[in-house]
Amino acid sequence: MCYAIPGKVIEINDNMVTVDYFGETRRARNEFYELTSGDYIYAQGGFVIQKISQDEAIGILKDWQELFFELKAIDLRLTKESKLKNLYQIANSIRQKHLGNSCCIHGIIEFSNYCSNNCFYCGIRNSNIGISRYRMEIDEIVKICEYAVKEFNFKALVLQSGEDPWYTQDKLISIVEKILRNNPILLILSIGERDIETYKRLYSLGSRGALLRFETSNNFLYEKYRPAHKLQERIELIKELKALGYFIFTGFLIGLPGQNQEDILNDIKLAGVLEPDMFSFGPFIPHPNTPLGDVKQPSLDSILTAISRTRIMYPKSRILVTSALETLDRQNGLRLGLLCGANSLMIDVTPEKYQKLYEIYPGRIRTDTKITERISSVLELLHSIGRAPTDLGL
Ligand code: 5AD
Ligand code: SF4
Repeated sequence: MCYAIPGKVIEINDNMVTVDYFGETRRARNEFYELTSGDYIYAQGGFVIQKISQDEAIGILKDWQELFFELKAIDLRLTKESKLKNLYQIANSIRQKHLGNSCCIHGIIEFSNYCSNNCFYCGIRNSNIGISRYRMEIDEIVKICEYAVKEFNFKALVLQSGEDPWYTQDKLISIVEKILRNNPILLILSIGERDIETYKRLYSLGSRGALLRFETSNNFLYEKYRPAHKLQERIELIKELKALGYFIFTGFLIGLPGQNQEDILNDIKLAGVLEPDMFSFGPFIPHPNTPLGDVKQPSLDSILTAISRTRIMYPKSRILVTSALETLDRQNGLRLGLLCGANSLMIDVTPEKYQKLYEIYPGRIRTDTKITERISSVLELLHSIGRAPTDLGL
């Protein structure tokens, strides 16, 4: 199992390196290692995250060589033969043409379901007294990260929680320091609106990703569904994180009551203006213990259309299939998302006893299967549609 292919450094310009993968070249930012031409590295999200020995790299590349080209051929064939509707086909061809068959896989660890906010759409909102709350201790978080890296080879991990003030700046520092001390990964924070100083400190310790959706570009809906919050402040924070150098995941919810087609186009455009490294948007799935519990969930088609349009508007972007889309259509959500222009996914590695409790929406997919089974089923699906479980970058 592998979520990155080692690449060979063939050129170095200051902190940018050019990396060769079986004859294809990509660029990555190197901030953490002494490198010379000929070294082998792993990159994730455009960052060099690990240097490995030539012997190890050559062994891994040998295992990959045949599969790498076999998967490409499957992807090319399926892209050409697609029987999906025109918009989806076009988006998929654009993905194939610009980015090939690589698919980023990130692990996600939901470490606390406490949240001080009360977003109308969210099942772990502060006022929902119908769920049991949990928060993982610092060492527990570090341990599960280590497990995900050592046992399953994850090269990128998202740490997600509600906005939980129990994790003070000092605690977050300790978590990031301890994780990165022994685990060469792209560490992505999904911890909500923290002050910029906290994000700066965590960046200086090596975290390089931040996931923060703006939720909706419609100011009226934003203020209605996120009481006591301002859209502009959220956007400013996303911009500041980008300016600091973070790899940005951002996006919105589709299907909020009152949202129309024009809003969704504006959502895609606003996301584009923020120049995210990863688009992360998906369906709103109503949770019964929230003020929006009675709303009808959006159609699969509306999500696939948004994915396709995003791919067409931003050909070289990374686009995530969210687990909410996988939940919306348990049978086909992931596969169809990937066949309509998406090229990234996440696997939940939260310990099983907590997974069900991270109930931002009900019926979350795969909370009832073991991590190993989830990983195998995802890899099997990727193989069947010719996607390589690795982020080669741009
Ligand atoms: N359905 C789908 N996504 C949701 N989120 C919150 N509530 C829901 C829901 N009911 C998303 C928000 C938030 C992310 C962590 O989870 O977009 O940014
Ligand atoms: Fe908290 Fe995020 Fe849920 Fe809002 S969407 S209640 S900030 S976890």
